[in-house]
Amino acid sequence: MKAIVLESAENPIVYKEVEIPTLAPGEVLVQLKAAALNRRDYWITVGKYAGIKYPSILGSDGAGIVTAVGEGTDAAWIGKEVIINPSHDYGDSNDFQGKDFKILGLPEDGTFAEYVKTPAQYLHPKPAHLTWEQAAAIPLAGLTAYRALFTKGKLKAADKVLIVGAGSGTGSFAIQWAIAAGATVYVTSGSADKIELAKSLGAIDGVNYKDADWDKQLQQLAGGFDVVIDSALGEGFAKLPDICNPGARIVTFGGTAGDFPAFNARRFFYKQLQLLGSMMGTTDEFDAMLTLIDKHQIVPVVDEVFPLEQAAAAIAKMEKSNQFGKIVLKVG
Ligand SMILES: NC(=O)c1ccc[n+]([C@@H]2O[C@H](COP(=O)([O-])OP(=O)(O)OC[C@H]3O[C@@H](n4cnc5c(N)ncnc54)[C@H](OP(=O)(O)O)[C@@H]3O)[C@@H](O)[C@H]2O)c1
Repeated sequence: MKAIVLESAENPIVYKEVEIPTLAPGEVLVQLKAAALNRRDYWITVGKYAGIKYPSILGSDGAGIVTAVGEGTDAAWIGKEVIINPSHDYGDSNDFQGKDFKILGLPEDGTFAEYVKTPAQYLHPKPAHLTWEQAAAIPLAGLTAYRALFTKGKLKAADKVLIVGAGSGTGSFAIQWAIAAGATVYVTSGSADKIELAKSLGAIDGVNYKDADWDKQLQQLAGGFDVVIDSALGEGFAKLPDICNPGARIVTFGGTAGDFPAFNARRFFYKQLQLLGSMMGTTDEFDAMLTLIDKHQIVPVVDEVFPLEQAAAAIAKMEKSNQFGKIVLKVG
């Protein structure tokens, strides 16, 4: 089969012929129709990710058709149209992942290939109203946004939520999930066009985080926030305590723009703010996300579709953060 192989640090994205995976008991083989990129794939190709091993097949997100099952696995899966939950072995606690937690697409071979194997327990029906490309866009970013908003951020319909970096894959899903839940959504983005796209999804308004006074602009537009989803961190994060309502929850799961800056601790504790870390999500959260998608017939935002062999160009686009929503690879 053809696959995108992380061959070495010097040669991180190689399109080549590799063996089709062999199945262990409990596993299934999925013939992929589409796969999607996450920032993780970019971090891995530039060596900025823990546990990198060579060679590996990249890719955490995929949608396709089950073509074979391993020993002891229900043969009724064969022919089913599925998407794959890449959050494996999350463990018994709903509060945090266990020590065996792993993500499809390193250490296990991933979805940037014609076939991927996965334990059958991580298969979910492909949402019927979506194309292969739209369905493949969902898993990692959708799940991460779902847990961050609902499990960690305890989002309620009456809440006002700020999504930092609206153009990100996770951000576009967070906008869609929060709007489906009835919350009032504002965004930040580095581009006026992306703020308009966020508004077309139902966000009320947004400001450009590159403006020195973005926090003041946002306060004027929106007042204060009850929930903030921030996967960028960096200097901008320091302004969040100023624009949060008392009791607000700030949830983070990434540091695209850097690390935690120094921020006003007095404002943070006086307002009794909560800062919460989050990591992908559980199988129950994946199911709940699919229920939300089905109930509201949500269509993920696909920015651009590249053929599998052009994965390097797709990752280069992600590096520049030129996308709004998900970058997808067409496989089948
Ligand atoms: N821990 C987990 O479970 C988990 C899961 C998924 C992702 N992540 C992490 O979360 C982050 C987002 O992932 P992704 O796949 O959604 O990324 P992505 O699609 O590549 O999006 C990156 C976005 O970051 C925004 N950004 C860049 N600089 C910024 C700044 N200074 N201030 C605010 N926003 C800024 C940009 O938004 P605009 O385009 O709007 O300017 C950009 O589009 C990454 O760091 C990723 O590694 C973690």
